[in-house]
Amino acid sequence: MRKKTFLSLLGILIIVIALAPHVSHKTAAQDDGWKPYTEEMLAGGTVKEDARPEGPLPADCPAPAAKDKYVIGMSQANKAEPWREAMNSQIAAAAEAYPDFEVVFQDAAQDNAKQVSDVENLLTQGIDLLIISPNEAAPLNDIVKQAWESCVPVIVLDRNLVDPNYSMFIGADNVAIGRGAGQYAAQWCADNGREDCLIAEIRGLEGAPPAKDRGDGFRLGLADGGLSEDNIIFSQNADWLRERAVPAAAAAFQSNPDIDVLYGHNDPMAEGAYIAAQDAGIEVSDVLFIGIDALPTPDGGIMSVLEGRLGVTFVYPTGGKQAIEWARLILEEHVVPPRWVVLPFDTVDPSNGQEVCNAFACPNAQ
Ligand code: FRU
Repeated sequence: MRKKTFLSLLGILIIVIALAPHVSHKTAAQDDGWKPYTEEMLAGGTVKEDARPEGPLPADCPAPAAKDKYVIGMSQANKAEPWREAMNSQIAAAAEAYPDFEVVFQDAAQDNAKQVSDVENLLTQGIDLLIISPNEAAPLNDIVKQAWESCVPVIVLDRNLVDPNYSMFIGADNVAIGRGAGQYAAQWCADNGREDCLIAEIRGLEGAPPAKDRGDGFRLGLADGGLSEDNIIFSQNADWLRERAVPAAAAAFQSNPDIDVLYGHNDPMAEGAYIAAQDAGIEVSDVLFIGIDALPTPDGGIMSVLEGRLGVTFVYPTGGKQAIEWARLILEEHVVPPRWVVLPFDTVDPSNGQEVCNAFACPNAQ
């Protein structure tokens, strides 16, 4: 009997020893204080890449210390574009709900080198978390890696980097938006008897991933609708800027007065192209102008659809509010976020323009 008890105790001991490394690993992670995210925290977003097992920081970093005040650095690619102003104000508004959050905004003025030094300055100031919307991917890659490796959580918004050396990325799916634009263009040409369907494209800044994604997605959408890349008879870069889109589109309409569809990678460029078409004496109501952003502001895309300039645009969420919510979860609750959260987008055209305007409180809201 005694021998039997001894043997079973020995058995238990062996099992405990065998499990020990696993158990202690788990305990170490829990001691770090990190816990998994829940479905509600996604607030309508979807997960494209799941959380890293080691948490939102490199494995040898401690979890953020509890503090009375957290300083969040926000490195913005530029402040001149209305969509970026909207992102900054959504961040500021969301942070107001948390009196222990102070947000320090930096404006890189579309200059990669300036954005690198903005981040360096923020790190020198001693921020608790960095939010960044990079001007271009490659030039900002290393500084973000440095920040993250120095144990500062980093949330990247809208324009991704080359390597995922950050805590999380939040943004809408630009391939899907571009694809929606391509499908819309193909359908519009079919519905309007434009057999040749001549398309001009005004592209965003080449080193910014949304430009490539919106271009690639558009081509997929054209193919979905039975068209091809050959329908794109003009494609030029205007760096997301309305003032650069005007001469680019002027060149397009001059050499091809029969353009059916003008696809701008954002609303300001599509609006610039509209002005260029008017100046070139084109009958603008014969052309489908496509944009992306759909801001609810007086000169934003939703009003443009209601006023009949843009034929279709897409609500491109800034992720500003979500960034602050995740910042709080990471810093104060030690939640491990998904590595990539995709935000939903909406299509806005004359069929639902008023409804979207009402939903986003645009100036014409009823
Ligand atoms: C603003 C902007 C938006 C566009 C986004 C893409 O800088 O050009 O108009 O949707 O950036 O990153």
